[in-house]
Amino acid sequence: MVTVNQQRVPRKRTYLMCSPEHFAVEYAINPWMDVTTAVDADLAVKQWDRLRETLVGLGHEVHLLTPEAGLPDMVFAANGAFVVDGTVYGAQFKHEQRAAEAAAHRAFYEEQGWRFIAPSETNEGEGDFAYLPEAHGGLVLAGHGFRTELAAHAEAQEALGRPVVSLRLVDPRFYHLDVALASIDDENVVYYPGAFSAASQRVLTQLFPDAVVADDEDALAFGLNLVSDGLNVVLNNEATRLAGKLKAAGYHPVPVELAELKKGGGSVKCCIAELRH
Ligand code: ARG
Repeated sequence: MVTVNQQRVPRKRTYLMCSPEHFAVEYAINPWMDVTTAVDADLAVKQWDRLRETLVGLGHEVHLLTPEAGLPDMVFAANGAFVVDGTVYGAQFKHEQRAAEAAAHRAFYEEQGWRFIAPSETNEGEGDFAYLPEAHGGLVLAGHGFRTELAAHAEAQEALGRPVVSLRLVDPRFYHLDVALASIDDENVVYYPGAFSAASQRVLTQLFPDAVVADDEDALAFGLNLVSDGLNVVLNNEATRLAGKLKAAGYHPVPVELAELKKGGGSVKCCIAELRH
């Protein structure tokens, strides 16, 4: 049982984001994308900037990646790599439209002197990987089924030296792990069971008996696509019931509006990669 009014403690985070200056929906690689929908890139930048300011206002450090013309999804910085304990496991995108983003992320990490491990398997970084430093001694959760290949889970385990638990995604609307599950502190998660196979749901119940569980409406409003510092949970403003559940569990929900970026099939977490030293 989740203890109500439990004292939650925030921890300062370091994030990487990329401005949606060149954001557009020019191709459709997930069910949310519709190339006939008009996108207002200026509005996208405004909303994204509010998100960035919110994170900085909470005391976090935000690094910026330079956006590149011709890479309209580059705003979704979560997909560029997965970082644990100072080691960076690089991404290798499934769709060629996004392939060039991996090199931009790699250059950022190499310039900053991080230990970078290049992948040989298809994986979309933190879009499909989550890290829980205090769960079972340090656990990686990994999604497969749509983007990241199962072989990349084993590769990530070898690269990072942390146990990787594979979870199978079964609903194309939840094509990345980070639209179906998020860490809310160092040891617990929030997730939408319907996005996972029955067996993977059992695995999640076993590993996280105190998890916060979201309903389909909040999940479809991208409510799970959130970032938390252990206390403050920044999430899409449409996921109102989920915000209430998090509050009841002792967290502090911080709603943000990201309607333009939703047209690309992403929200808060998709825009943010966590740099873990
Ligand atoms: N349009 C992007 C794609 O389909 C959205 C990526 C969202 N990112 C995420 N981490 N879920 O690849």
